[in-house]
Amino acid sequence: MSTPTTASLTSEAVEPHLRGRFGKPYLYEPECESTQLLLLGSGLSEGAVGVTDHQTRGRGRLGRPWVEPSGTSVLASVLLQPPPERNAPELSLVAAVAVAQVIDRTTGLTSQIKWPNDVMLNRRKVAGILTELSDRTVVLGIGVNVNQTREQLPSDTPTPAGSLLTLTGTRHERAPLLGALLLELERMYDAWREGGLDSVYGELGARDFLRGRRITLDGAPATAVQILRDGRIEIETAAGELRAVESGEVLYAA
Ligand code: BTN
Repeated sequence: MSTPTTASLTSEAVEPHLRGRFGKPYLYEPECESTQLLLLGSGLSEGAVGVTDHQTRGRGRLGRPWVEPSGTSVLASVLLQPPPERNAPELSLVAAVAVAQVIDRTTGLTSQIKWPNDVMLNRRKVAGILTELSDRTVVLGIGVNVNQTREQLPSDTPTPAGSLLTLTGTRHERAPLLGALLLELERMYDAWREGGLDSVYGELGARDFLRGRRITLDGAPATAVQILRDGRIEIETAAGELRAVESGEVLYAA
């Protein structure tokens, strides 16, 4: 009988689920500050993956913390060395598509992508992506809320948080989920290396959570129009002007 809440993401548990290039090597720590730090400056090459069952200083976007109770989440970082002709920050969106597809297959529901890095299920954020770039190396971190109960989720996040458990009522095994995520990420990454963001845009555009919603961008009210083919988001300002925005904090009026 499996024990999804406690089974950990050790290499013994996960290696049987690794089917592609990503996860070689597979670095596992029962606890660490951040899986990003297992790879940043490591000198390892593309496909190296760092995983833990608990982060003591998990990093979110815009300097925010990423917090989880031990053994509830998928916390993984992947080292990537994209070709110079590609725009590395697009990898957040590429990874979000991969995570969304695996969440759909796991839950039977349809997830969406909240530009630029959140995966949403039933209007709740269930996963976040962080890309940290140094030279031509990207360390791409993925955090998925899997088995947190409602009480275990942070209540003070700008976007309301959910987990696969709170949204489906079912606990999920994390090791096969991580294996599926790494394989889907590899597939999407390879497509992006070949053809840029255009190659995943169909999936991305179809999952655009903010499209048509009233938002604030860095505090200023606007309406989100759509994610553009180059990865920026098009917004309509309160003055009726269309703008393409590269980065910033978007909050939506629920
Ligand atoms: C965000 O939504 O703000 C991004 C969250 C990214 C969290 C993941 S968990 C694994 C990796 N290690 C970290 O410290 N952060 C990323």
